Amino acid sequence: MKVLVLHGPNLNLLGRREPEVYGRKTLIEINRELTEVAEELGVELRIVQSNHEGELVDEVQKAGEDCAGILINPAAYTHTSVALRDALAAVGLPAVEVHLSNIHAREEFRRKSLTAPVVLGQISGFGPDGYLWGLRALVKKIREAGANG
Ligand code: DQA
Repeated sequence: MKVLVLHGPNLNLLGRREPEVYGRKTLIEINRELTEVAEELGVELRIVQSNHEGELVDEVQKAGEDCAGILINPAAYTHTSVALRDALAAVGLPAVEVHLSNIHAREEFRRKSLTAPVVLGQISGFGPDGYLWGLRALVKKIREAGANG
């Protein structure tokens, strides 16, 4: 089973980007931890980070062809991208949305997620651990759906 892990804009700067909000772990460290959990779960990851909306849309579409699910932190595009939301809805893969910070406890403009209605659920505010729990939750859902379907 293959899962797409998609990191949106500015997440390549993790570690030095507003550490008081996003912590000190780099994206490389987060990806390493994700890879360890994936090995434990017996799933393969394709991990992509992009600062470009269209590239994120392309990756979601590509996942529709060869992945069983998507773990996504759309970052700022969470709040603005109809295109990304539509792509997630179009491919119809099970997806989990992750945010390092609690977007509901921050500025008003971050409280609205355009992508939340088209994913299984959202994990927000637990730092990098949210990715690891998100991956576990996603794989569990995919396996349950497989067992019942
Ligand atoms: C974020 C929250 C977004 O509002 C912000 O634009 C990000 C990161 C998070 O992980 O907390 O870039 O998605």
